[in-house]
Amino acid sequence: MSEQLANSKKVFLKTYGCQMNVYDSSRMQDALEQDGYVATSAIEDADLVLLNTCHIREKAAEKVYSDIGRIRQIKEARAEAGKSMTIGVTGCVAQAEGAEIIARAPAVNLVAGPQTYHHLPDLVRRAREGERVVETEFEIEEKFEQLPAATSTQHRARGVAAFLTVQEGCDKFCTFCVVPYTRGAEVSRSVEQIMDEARGMVAGGVREITLLGQNVNAWHGTGADGREWGLGELLFELSSIPELERLRYTTSHPVDMDEGLIDAHRKLQCLMPYLHLPVQSGSNKILKAMNRHHTIAEYLAIIERVREARPGIAISGDFIVGFPGETDKDFEETLALVREVNYASAFSFKYSQRPGTPGADMEAQVLESVKNERLQRLQALLNEQQESFNKTCVGKTVDILLEKQGKRQGQLIGRSPWLQSVIVDDTLGAPGEVVRVKITTAAPNSLTAVAA
Ligand code: 5AD
Ligand code: SF4
Repeated sequence: MSEQLANSKKVFLKTYGCQMNVYDSSRMQDALEQDGYVATSAIEDADLVLLNTCHIREKAAEKVYSDIGRIRQIKEARAEAGKSMTIGVTGCVAQAEGAEIIARAPAVNLVAGPQTYHHLPDLVRRAREGERVVETEFEIEEKFEQLPAATSTQHRARGVAAFLTVQEGCDKFCTFCVVPYTRGAEVSRSVEQIMDEARGMVAGGVREITLLGQNVNAWHGTGADGREWGLGELLFELSSIPELERLRYTTSHPVDMDEGLIDAHRKLQCLMPYLHLPVQSGSNKILKAMNRHHTIAEYLAIIERVREARPGIAISGDFIVGFPGETDKDFEETLALVREVNYASAFSFKYSQRPGTPGADMEAQVLESVKNERLQRLQALLNEQQESFNKTCVGKTVDILLEKQGKRQGQLIGRSPWLQSVIVDDTLGAPGEVVRVKITTAAPNSLTAVAA
């Protein structure tokens, strides 16, 4: 080990929740590495522990506090050995709870909301000097401008498929959701910034980029031609980068699914045939109470247009069961919608009352036992659909992007166009290569394939 490495400070970073947190964590790590930190996966060795947290459901937020309890003991053990540990809470719990975190968990030295990461090295320095630092300002545009770009070595270390945030925050105010409060108003990054970052990623070996945003299809910006662009035009521009094999984007709102984006699905082969389009409920009454701004008929019409533009596209979604006022009939309508759309994959959750959101104060909250029962029924149906979608892939010849070593020796894991994991023999190629394979077997969560 070089002297510099031996003397460097170590950071342990744990990420909770969504893909945007994964992206943020990688940018935070880049910023800290440039300040002399080295990442460690051994928490006992860490001078700095950062918990990049999620506030979307109660369970996610509570997990952070139980983790802090455990980390506090490690901090105490280090203190006995004469070593310090600075504990920081970042992400949406930090934004939502601010100084309350320090009151509830005195072992925490630093609380920093998602829009403050460009100040992170400075905030950490102050915390290490003994200050209890709480920073929850909204300076989202500055964040993107000032965070240092990752080096190609950093990209290479993270693999061939990576995230790129193009838009952050949300103006939709769905009545169940904390995001507009924790991430703030919708802000789009500029075309130049996005293109620069994408080119840097590709130079560092990235072959598949997933564009991220809480409301990614609300992205807009001034294009290279001086016109106002939407996400569709941005995807066309990104498709011109040589060696960028694949593009994806997530998460979309049905209301912002415009013609430009559907056209990108029609014309761009590198845009993978997969659309995550949350609907949350199959009942018009509940959609209205959720403030979703569309009806079931409108959602189905969008799915039809997308499927017409890109036959065979896999549709995925998010569902919430037990939103206040949801009756058995409303829930049956959700099941009916799921049957009609036939999802390739989906996420489903029990409604969780989030402080400060309108849904939390609504009357007719649904009993936990009813939520449990509905979630079980919905998940049984969604799992069945996912399994049968996977089975329809058997026998097909497809291109997969080889990503990383598999669990067993001699295996590689690749990604199908429809976002399924595909296990193949490692003689087929190396991570970063797109290879043509024939799907041989399908399990609920993965496929296997051989050379085509
Ligand atoms: N309770 C349960 N699920 C929620 N989601 C967002 N807020 C809540 C909540 N309060 C789900 C939605 C969203 C996904 C990211 O998380 O389905 O699309
Ligand atoms: Fe939350 Fe709705 Fe915004 Fe999605 S669109 S982040 S669910 S408020």
